[in-house]
Amino acid sequence: MASPTYITTPIYYVNDRPHIGHCYTTGLADCLARFSRLASGDPSQTYFLTGTDEHADKVVTSAAAHGMTPLQWADRNAAAFEEAFRACNYTHDDFVRTTQDRHKTKVIEYINALLASGDVYLGEYTGWWDASQEEYLTETMAKEAGFISPVTGKPLVKRSEKNYFFRLSKYQARLKAHIDAHPTFILPEARRNEVLGRLRDGLEDIPVSRAVTDDPASRWGILMPNDPGHRIYVWIDALFNYLSVVDRPELSRFWPASVHLMAKDILWFHAVIWPCMLMALNRPLPRRVYAHSYWVREGVKMSKSLGNFVTIEVMQAYAARYGMDALRWYLLTQGPSGTTDADFSHARFVEVFNADLANGIGNCASRVGNMIDKYFGGVLPEGVREHVAEGSTRSLSACCAASAANTMKALDTCDAGEALLAGIAIVREVDQYINLTSPFKLAKTVDADPSAKTRLADILYTCAEAIRVASVLLSPGLPTKMAQLWSAWGCAPAAGATLESLASFAGVHGLRAGSRVTKGEILFMRADPAEPAPA
Ligand code: MSP
Repeated sequence: MASPTYITTPIYYVNDRPHIGHCYTTGLADCLARFSRLASGDPSQTYFLTGTDEHADKVVTSAAAHGMTPLQWADRNAAAFEEAFRACNYTHDDFVRTTQDRHKTKVIEYINALLASGDVYLGEYTGWWDASQEEYLTETMAKEAGFISPVTGKPLVKRSEKNYFFRLSKYQARLKAHIDAHPTFILPEARRNEVLGRLRDGLEDIPVSRAVTDDPASRWGILMPNDPGHRIYVWIDALFNYLSVVDRPELSRFWPASVHLMAKDILWFHAVIWPCMLMALNRPLPRRVYAHSYWVREGVKMSKSLGNFVTIEVMQAYAARYGMDALRWYLLTQGPSGTTDADFSHARFVEVFNADLANGIGNCASRVGNMIDKYFGGVLPEGVREHVAEGSTRSLSACCAASAANTMKALDTCDAGEALLAGIAIVREVDQYINLTSPFKLAKTVDADPSAKTRLADILYTCAEAIRVASVLLSPGLPTKMAQLWSAWGCAPAAGATLESLASFAGVHGLRAGSRVTKGEILFMRADPAEPAPA
């Protein structure tokens, strides 16, 4: 991603408690933001925003049910999201809440600009009113429901109301041209095709306000600046957050956003409505809109009625047993980043944990650290250089270069999982290299054959340096454990170093003669598949 980089997540409704779905999108953003900071070597060139969407009607109802004001209720739940994201070790630069003045004043500015240009106008909305649910159904939905409320069975009434509308239809052709000209504007590609398909049906202007009624709940939101009889529709208010936060001199370099991340449920708002609003405001469009799929649990869709959400409490129980890095790893490498849903399955979690972490990077780093400790007193001797195993098809330095290139390529399409797995590919090759070179056997011959000692040093150096490169590529997913490894091996990335230079085998940041490589603590203890899931 080009510098400066601006990565956003949806802002989450505060009437719900945070769960794995919210933590996943923000976690994906966290991993991409960490990669981006590493890539440029300058953390101030990356901005990562998450937050909460607070002006929904549901907030008013839930607050009342809990004997609180909407703002008190929003405060409480926004704090729960912030706490959850802190516990997951996320490094967002900002947490926006739509009830904050900094956001509200900007929204008013944008709406005023759209009123002035005529892109927001007063019109009339006609629909089928479901009085029992206080919502409109479109003609098609009403017809399908037999003109009775699908929820309560009471008759629907045809009703009209004055509303402010956004001239979405005016921007249809420009949007289509933009999507055509920018093949990676909407990703994954299958989602892009869905959007293009729906666009063929044509775009109608959309209401951007709701009437204020006698019900005090209808005042919860931002009032239209020109007309206190209307408030801005919550979705319009919410979409503006991406711009409102960085629309000030210190942060303006971050617009346009590099990527808006979300799940497929809200792609239309981000890929169609938001870009058209930006065109109307004469602002550049985000470079990318990325919609992932859903988490399900043990093969079943998560829902309130089933009560089977992977809640923040379940996530904490996993983190307590396996470590937060292990949970991050599972989410990032097994998550629904593409077009298929992903399963949060305990058996799979343990399998991946053991394969990639305990028996993967953990075991490999500890084997190599132990041998350097045992045979060389924990210090790489003079003259060490890369050793290529007889019978191997490629050197470990070539494997590191290929993996680093794979990481970069995966990052081009926001594929954090693939970017991380490139690090594990190095670990697997180091394991094979150890099998081919058998340093523990070689160590037994050094007394009789002094040249074996030099070869042993070269072999262990080669392994350690490859693991160091792997640790750099793995660090955005496993920040705590890789920092632990770096401290045992004295190879923490220098401030200002770039991902490219850190990931280069035997480069300026590499291990060398004199580097102290100590055993360190075990990074990941093997998990017992027979142990029941933490709850
Ligand atoms: N407030 C709106 C978004 C406004 S953005 C300008 C909203 N909020 S939400 O709380 O419902 O969050 C929806 C988002 O949460 C999804 O797009 C996705 O990022 C995340 N997830 C919620 N459930 C999820 C899964 N089961 N799986 C993966 N992510 C999901 O919509």
